Amino acid sequence: MVTKLEQLYEGKAKKIFKTDEQSIYWVVYKDDATAFDGKKKGTIKGKGYYNNQISAHFFKYLEDKCQVPTHYVETVSETEMLVKAVEIIPIEVIARNIAAGSLAKRIGVAEGTKLKKPVLEFCYKSDELGDPMINDYHIAALELASEEELAEIKRLAWLVNEKLSAYVANFNLTLVDFKLEFGRFRGQVILADEISPDTCRFWDSTTQEKLDKDRFRRDLGQVEEAYQEVLRRIRG
Ligand SMILES: Nc1ncnc2c1ncn2[C@@H]1O[C@H](COP(=O)(O)OP(=O)(O)O)[C@@H](O)[C@H]1O
Ligand SMILES: [Mg+2]
Repeated sequence: MVTKLEQLYEGKAKKIFKTDEQSIYWVVYKDDATAFDGKKKGTIKGKGYYNNQISAHFFKYLEDKCQVPTHYVETVSETEMLVKAVEIIPIEVIARNIAAGSLAKRIGVAEGTKLKKPVLEFCYKSDELGDPMINDYHIAALELASEEELAEIKRLAWLVNEKLSAYVANFNLTLVDFKLEFGRFRGQVILADEISPDTCRFWDSTTQEKLDKDRFRRDLGQVEEAYQEVLRRIRG
């Protein structure tokens, strides 16, 4: 077991601590919730627990069954996990199967419309700029990732989409869209950050009921219950 040392940084949903092992960080998942570039703030009771457990579950599945390299090392408490210390690539990678949220608005299609082909989007991870959408050319111009890294990011994002969509379908969940972050670790691009109802849209496949952070964003109620339900389903 490693020892938790000083805090490196605190984000909107997690705190990252150093450990006595240089290559390992200690992540604490928080109950804090934000939306709309931090303009809406609140707390979701139990979110730190649900997101830690749900993320661990998905990371293990992707690593063990799908050949997706991830930062996940081990779960150390209800709300904490150890991860590989990566250099985060400052790109939010968004994959979309069904139009929802900002995409539905931007391209003028009704939320819930299945896309003929899934869409991949990139945003520049910058709170000051409000995470603006960028493309391959901006990524090259800003040197956010090399061509090889970007190709690997795309390959992994599509692989995660395919594997995770099929996996959650077993639990009567539809993976509408999701956001990934990648990092550099020992010369390799690996999946980092979290995979949770904060970063994915999950809809009940039968009723289309939202089981994700949109319940918080849109004040739909039963927020905590939605996170709990996702964990309950994937645990089986
Ligand atoms: N394995 C990792 N190594 C280093 N940093 C990480 C790792 N996984 C996630 N992070 C970073 O930890 C920070 C805290 O996460 P979070 O609270 O979700 O931040 P944000 O407010 O940017 O959403 C983010 O900047 C995220 O990119
Ligand atoms: Mg985050």
